[in-house]
Amino acid sequence: MEQTIINANGYSIFIGNNVFDTIRSYLNQYEFKENKIFVLVDENTRKYCLPRLMSNIQLLQQVHILEIPSGEESKSTSVCLQMWQELSKNGADRNSVLINLGGGVVSDLGGFIASTFKRGMRYVNIPTTLLSMVDASIGGKVGIDLNGLKNQIGVFSNPQVVFIIPEFLDTLPERQMINGFAEIVKHSLVYEKHYWDELSGLVYKEIDNWKELIDTSIEIKNYFVTEDPHETGFRKVLNFGHTVGHAIETFSLQHDEVPLLHGESIAIGLICESYISSKVTGLPQAELDEIVHYIMGNFDQYLFRSGNFDIILDIMKHDKKNSGNRFNFTLLTSIGNSLINQQVDLSLIRESLQYYLNLQV
Ligand SMILES: NC(=O)c1ccc[n+]([C@@H]2O[C@H](COP(=O)([O-])OP(=O)(O)OC[C@H]3O[C@@H](n4cnc5c(N)ncnc54)[C@H](O)[C@@H]3O)[C@@H](O)[C@H]2O)c1
Ligand SMILES: [Zn+2]
Repeated sequence: MEQTIINANGYSIFIGNNVFDTIRSYLNQYEFKENKIFVLVDENTRKYCLPRLMSNIQLLQQVHILEIPSGEESKSTSVCLQMWQELSKNGADRNSVLINLGGGVVSDLGGFIASTFKRGMRYVNIPTTLLSMVDASIGGKVGIDLNGLKNQIGVFSNPQVVFIIPEFLDTLPERQMINGFAEIVKHSLVYEKHYWDELSGLVYKEIDNWKELIDTSIEIKNYFVTEDPHETGFRKVLNFGHTVGHAIETFSLQHDEVPLLHGESIAIGLICESYISSKVTGLPQAELDEIVHYIMGNFDQYLFRSGNFDIILDIMKHDKKNSGNRFNFTLLTSIGNSLINQQVDLSLIRESLQYYLNLQV
């Protein structure tokens, strides 16, 4: 498998199962001694990914391992404090490097810990979930949660370099794969009709060349981020599907025994916001039908009750992007073209939820 190199805002992203040589030369270039390298993992990436990394890179066999429990709860102030203390106790300084080996929880938390420790030490991302490969590990947003609200504390800070090894996906549970796939679908919708046509020709369950999809998705995310790194405008295109999607994600977290994952909620958001786009920004009916057909054919339908609409709309009112009864959306004018900062009425959002529930698989 070939290695792909993508240049992001001042750092590079290397993709391929043979990037170990590149990792080795990166570490040698800075003459990191073993005691200056820290690797952040959770219990799953320690078990499934760390041994592969260590067996390929001699220098990593003696490094300090920092382990957090898997799951969103680790994006907390108490885990941060523990990690800063471990770094400090083990002599980390501004010549050290933190390697984040894991999904989005590890890279969000690790990026934040590194960026704030002694006013910033280097960090490297080696994402191990599909979602973190195509989304969380790039773009420079790092942070933690506060009082149950996501990403309340954080900074923009880029990694030194990102290494993506698609082979790490071999051990990833199936649900986590489709979770990341939702972001790939989103990328195709906001970027280019041509790419959407290609992607929507694939059946999710039959995809075997993930590297190609990862390459393209990163190119797309990187394109929007590079234009607008601090999300003052253009980058908001990437929020398509996320206004409704986030509200459904929170609703499910509060009400379901086995809550929806982020990507599963975003898939629903993509349908609802495409419907809204067809009413507000002129997304053609035929394109709406295509989007709905593809998502419903590849993702399970989530059957919530229409009696829950008020709760979902209430959650949306508390989202920092919305104020009062004004809801801020990114909408499609056609596949591959979108408009940011579109105001949408409550009644139309309600209608879009009903539209989703009425769909037959
Ligand atoms: N910074 C950003 O731009 C950005 C973008 C999107 C999402 N995020 C954040 O990312 C987080 C979600 O990330 P995620 O979906 O990767 O979840 P995650 O990090 O919780 O990983 C999901 C699960 O997979 C396990 N796992 C990871 N790699 C594995 C592997 N190779 N084999 C087996 N198991 C493995 C983990 O231990 C965990 O149980 C959220 O906190 C979200 O806010 C950030
Ligand atoms: Zn997302």
